[in-house]
Amino acid sequence: MSPPLTGKLALVTGSGRGIGRAIALKLAAQGADIIVNFFRHREAAEKTAKDIEALGVKAQVVRANVGNPAKLDEMFDTISNNFGYLDILINNAASGVGRPVMDVDVKAWDWTMDINAKAALLCAQRAAKLMEGRGGKIISISSLGSSFVLPTYAIVGTSKAALEALTRYLAIELAPKGICVNTVAASAVETEALKFYIKEQLMPDTRQATPAGRMIIPEDVANVVAFLCSEEAFMIRGQTIIVDGGTSVAPFVIPKESQQ
Ligand SMILES: NC(=O)c1ccc[n+]([C@@H]2O[C@H](COP(=O)([O-])OP(=O)(O)OC[C@H]3O[C@@H](n4cnc5c(N)ncnc54)[C@H](OP(=O)(O)O)[C@@H]3O)[C@@H](O)[C@H]2O)c1
Repeated sequence: MSPPLTGKLALVTGSGRGIGRAIALKLAAQGADIIVNFFRHREAAEKTAKDIEALGVKAQVVRANVGNPAKLDEMFDTISNNFGYLDILINNAASGVGRPVMDVDVKAWDWTMDINAKAALLCAQRAAKLMEGRGGKIISISSLGSSFVLPTYAIVGTSKAALEALTRYLAIELAPKGICVNTVAASAVETEALKFYIKEQLMPDTRQATPAGRMIIPEDVANVVAFLCSEEAFMIRGQTIIVDGGTSVAPFVIPKESQQ
């Protein structure tokens, strides 16, 4: 039997590294061809594409700063010209400026909102047209900072809250077109981004075992994204699925591993 996503085409924004790379590889392992989008690190994107091709599916690398609407349009023009369709959009790329709320200026706000929230709207609008007549899946990646206050995370958290609200509106508006829209929100995941926040002391080192007994890894997020891309998840719409090993429902429980 062929893998479940055989013949599908997925765009994963920011998939050269981190969680995006894990999602791209997971969807490729399930048979999907992948558009690997990157912004600054071409080498990493090409490595991801090579690893995807080794799984026996197609990969195309496309550079675009998704925070720039003109570049985002160019990326979709490339997909439109080269393929003419799209089945899965993963809004994973994110950036942000870590500052206390009172130090947030217009530049930092616009930068973060453009990449983390506006891009998801513009990508969904272009993607939905390429999904016309075939249905599709749109999944965005959020974080617990959308609902909880994390140190220096004000703008990123606000951008993620916008992303989650957008998910609900898109889910309803695109439902008649057979497009399922959802979000996966994670707590701290072991990636370069997390190491940067901790190194720059923008966040305390909260890396510890969760009630589930270990730290979250990118593949934990990718597994849930893959499920939401499957037909089994057809009736899940407009939801934010939390992947945090139980941390958010038990914030005052100190895992045994951290007490040793
Ligand atoms: N790590 C965590 O603890 C954590 C927790 C919860 C949620 N998340 C979310 O998970 C997603 C991935 O995070 P991560 O930790 O994997 O981040 P990461 O390791 O910093 O990787 C960020 C990715 O986004 C891409 N990117 C950044 N700005 C971009 C832009 N303007 N246009 C296109 N691509 C851009 C980067 O591409 P280049 O390298 O080519 O620039 C890179 O591939 C984000 O949405 C993040 O908010 C992360």
